[in-house]
Amino acid sequence: MARIIGIFSGKGGVGKTTTVANLGSSLAHDFGKKVATIDANTSGSSLGIHLGMHFNPVNLNNVLKGEITEWDALSEHGSGMWVLPASIKLKDYFVDHSKLPDVISRISKRFDIVLVDTAPTVGSETAWTFNAVREGIIVTNPDLPSVIDSLKMAKRVSDHSIKVLGVVVNRSKKKQSMTNSDIEKLMGLPIISEVPEDKSIEKGIKFNVPSVHLYPHSKASIAFKRLAGDIVGEEFETPGFLQMFRRRIGL
Ligand SMILES: Nc1ncnc2c1ncn2[C@@H]1O[C@H](COP(=O)(O)OP(=O)(O)OP(=O)(O)O)[C@@H](O)[C@H]1O
Ligand SMILES: [Mg+2]
Repeated sequence: MARIIGIFSGKGGVGKTTTVANLGSSLAHDFGKKVATIDANTSGSSLGIHLGMHFNPVNLNNVLKGEITEWDALSEHGSGMWVLPASIKLKDYFVDHSKLPDVISRISKRFDIVLVDTAPTVGSETAWTFNAVREGIIVTNPDLPSVIDSLKMAKRVSDHSIKVLGVVVNRSKKKQSMTNSDIEKLMGLPIISEVPEDKSIEKGIKFNVPSVHLYPHSKASIAFKRLAGDIVGEEFETPGFLQMFRRRIGL
């Protein structure tokens, strides 16, 4: 049975889509898993933007309107993962999400892992997503407002019998307002990854290529690759200096 993992947060802009794009790419590329990523954040969709698929003529909105099937709108990304983006058009803002669980369930039958990008809201898209996923990862930034909002989202996620795998602390820095131990204590959940503040992430978005591909040796990329390994129970071997040097010169 495929794993269906929702990537949640309470506050917007903390790095959910970044996590879906990089984690999905690494699971497919580094660990050989058959991965589908789905943008269920239809009110603020951006997975397509992160991956250069935002002008796809067909997307999740067409599927939810019953105009096409999910197989018409799901396409393979260069990283090896499959992507179902949502529309970025203002006119598509309102859409009926009730078909979302069935769409995700049908997709999951052909994949090992489905990652679902979610909205940081309490609206219908989030409510229907709760019915569609079996596991959840909570993303937060290391500051009190993000952590408090993520704590509330984590509670809602677990109230829906979704197994919470843990917390990804994204944009971590040497000097941050909350320590990891404070975050774990407040949230009552383990931190499963700490992704540093890293320019490679922004550059990846600018060039529509996840950082794990464009800058595979950046600190953020290594963190996402390790998380991917942990999720599938395999170790990601951090490349040593000489290995990185060999790769850089194409050996
Ligand atoms: N580790 C990081 N280092 C540097 N910048 C980052 C990092 N993670 C995310 N960002 C920046 O933060 C921005 C927001 O990230 P992202 O789109 O993944 O957030 P989100 O939680 O999906 O937002 P929304 O709630 O609007 O869907 C990105 O455009 C990127 O520039
Ligand atoms: Mg997002």
